[in-house]
Amino acid sequence: MGWWSAGEHAPRAGEAAIGAALRETAQPFWIVRSHDGPAVGRGGSWTGDAAAPEGALPVLAFAPPCRPELLGDASFRADHGLRYAYMAGAMANGIGSAEIVEAMARAGMLGCFGAAGLPLPVVEAAVDRLAASVGDLPHAFNLIHSPNEPALEDAVATLYVRRGIRTVEASAYLDLTLPLVRYRLAGIHRDAEGHVVAPHRVIGKVSRVEVATRFLSPAPTAILDELVRRGDLTREQAELAAHVPVAQDITAEADSGGHTDNRPLVALLPTLLALRDRLAAQHGYDAPPRVGAAGGIATPDSAAAAFAMGAAYVVTGSINQACVEAGTSDAVRDMLAAAGQADVTMAPAADMFEMGVKVQVLKRGTMFAMRAAKLHELYRTRAGLDDLAPAERAQLERQIFKRDLDSVWEETAAFFRERDATQLERAATDPRHKMALVFRWYLGQS
Ligand SMILES: Cc1cc2nc3c(=O)[nH]c(=O)nc-3n(C[C@H](O)[C@H](O)[C@H](O)COP(=O)(O)O)c2cc1C
Repeated sequence: MGWWSAGEHAPRAGEAAIGAALRETAQPFWIVRSHDGPAVGRGGSWTGDAAAPEGALPVLAFAPPCRPELLGDASFRADHGLRYAYMAGAMANGIGSAEIVEAMARAGMLGCFGAAGLPLPVVEAAVDRLAASVGDLPHAFNLIHSPNEPALEDAVATLYVRRGIRTVEASAYLDLTLPLVRYRLAGIHRDAEGHVVAPHRVIGKVSRVEVATRFLSPAPTAILDELVRRGDLTREQAELAAHVPVAQDITAEADSGGHTDNRPLVALLPTLLALRDRLAAQHGYDAPPRVGAAGGIATPDSAAAAFAMGAAYVVTGSINQACVEAGTSDAVRDMLAAAGQADVTMAPAADMFEMGVKVQVLKRGTMFAMRAAKLHELYRTRAGLDDLAPAERAQLERQIFKRDLDSVWEETAAFFRERDATQLERAATDPRHKMALVFRWYLGQS
């Protein structure tokens, strides 16, 4: 590998010197063969000439600088205004708190506010707070698909457009919805040089090829036509939509906390990278979409592995629950600190309970997963609460709800009167829906 001549610093031999050099990732160095064995050479000069210059040592290896700022896709960092290609993913109910978003923004990283499950005024309060605290620094809000509460998804997307939120992390989508596409395309235009500019950025979180395909493709015609019909887009804007994917970034969500299809990252990421290449070529985008990685990233090694596999950026979730900024409790932090890798399990999701969607939750030290599974089983097999045998109902009240179901229903009804009264209209004529709302009370509270 050529010859190295020392400059100001003499080479330093020995394992300790090499170990120290490897840990200082920002500085390049040579490994040379010295009289004392392999040694670290810094600075100096190198030549590839066949003949050794006077006093030069043979080079065994070269370690280029590897600064964390250089990991991932440079265009991801540039587009989002980041120092690092690193995102803290949304965590529902404000667990992904404004404090996390602020700390990430100040560190040159992207934090996403966990808007899922929160009422609209609470999300708007977070918009106010972050506008004041981080302003133009990078930050994102979660837009979560809410098949049970389409009005809420619509209202949250409208809020984000109205308040000029520039980046959303879109998650739990099985198919694209009108509010998501409306958010993405609001304000789309051509700039002075004729480039198509979509000011709203969508980072789509996906774990399946079908969903990734929708995010990596231009918005579907049926939704565009509807947006034009409703006056949300001009016909010209709808035509510009053919030049941009619904999401410029998709996150390959492998086996992770929260919603997951439990795919291994080493299988999912390459699949989605190949899909991206295919669709970028097919649609001829000016800027090809990027693919980031999430799921199980919790150490420098796992982040490095994701970057080595070609991730444009990395996203973490579970580990952020342990930090002081997380919108959670010390009881949760203690339980997570005691948990090992196998102390998790899948349990019915509160937000998509009726559809049988599951999320990954902590198993150790809690009966939640078993109890939630029991409730889902009853939901699947019974016509309504009145269809429960008296002994069965008594057991639920004693062991799971720890109160009588009538009072749970009263509280649930009061909640939905504020949040989405259509749920109550449906429950009045559909006993199974009423049962779902009562069971979701337990999932939500737990
Ligand atoms: C408690 C918890 C709640 C979550 N809630 C959401 C959510 O509301 N929206 C979302 O997009 N992702 C949510 N996630 C997923 C994270 O944003 C992230 O993608 C995931 O946790 C990454 O995998 P990891 O947990 O293995 O780090 C949640 C994760 C956890 C642990």
